[in-house]
Amino acid sequence: MQKESANNYYKPAEDTLFFAEHLQNEKGKTALDIGTGSGFLAQVLSKNFELVVATDTDLKALKKAHESIENCICCNAADALTAIFDLVVCNLPYLPSDEVADPAVDGLRDGVEIPIKILSSANKAIGNKGKLIFITSSLANYNELIKQTQLLGLSTKIIASKKLFFEELILVGGTRKMHKDD
Ligand SMILES: C[S@@+](CC[C@H](N)C(=O)[O-])C[C@H]1O[C@@H](n2cnc3c(N)ncnc32)[C@H](O)[C@@H]1O
Repeated sequence: MQKESANNYYKPAEDTLFFAEHLQNEKGKTALDIGTGSGFLAQVLSKNFELVVATDTDLKALKKAHESIENCICCNAADALTAIFDLVVCNLPYLPSDEVADPAVDGLRDGVEIPIKILSSANKAIGNKGKLIFITSSLANYNELIKQTQLLGLSTKIIASKKLFFEELILVGGTRKMHKDD
C-alpha cells in the first residue's frame, strides 16, 4: 500500500491483487465491499455473489466504481446499511499516521485506529453465518487489530500472507463466534 495524490482515488495495487486472488473461491448470495475504491474487489465478488454492495467515503472513487458495478453507496463503512451480508470484505487504510492526510491509506495510531472504527461498523453487517475478510500489514500493529476484531465477537484466523519488498500483507478472516444454543 502506497500513498497517492490526495486528489486521486486508490488504484488497484499489490494489496488489491493479493486480496482479489483470495476472493476467487468465495461464494454466496450477498457481499459487501467496504472502501471499494475503483470497485476492483466488488467486481471480483460479482462473479460469485447475486448481490454486491460497495461503499466508500470518496465520491471520486465511487464514480469510477460505478462504471463497472452497481449498488455504490457513499457512506462511512457500513453505517448507511441495514442489510446483513454473507461476506463483508475490506481493504483497510492501514498505514500508521499522525493525521488522515490521505483517507485511502492513513490508519492513524499504529495503523489500527481507523481500521477498528471501520470494522466495528462492518460488524453490524455480518450475519450469524457470515464472514469478514480484511487486509492489514506488518507495517501496522496487526496483532492489536486482530484482538480488537475478536472483541467484536468474531473468531479470527490469518488466511494468507505475502512478503513484499517493504511490508508483509496479512489477510485476516473472521466468523461469528457461535453460542452453544445457536
Ligand atoms: C486501500 S484503499 C482500497 C481500495 C480498493 N478496495 C482496493 O482494494 O483497491 C481504501 C479505500 O477505503 C476508503 N475508505 C477510507 N475510510 C473509509 C470509511 N470510513 N468508510 C468507507 N470507505 C473508506 C478509501 O476512500 C479508499 O477508497
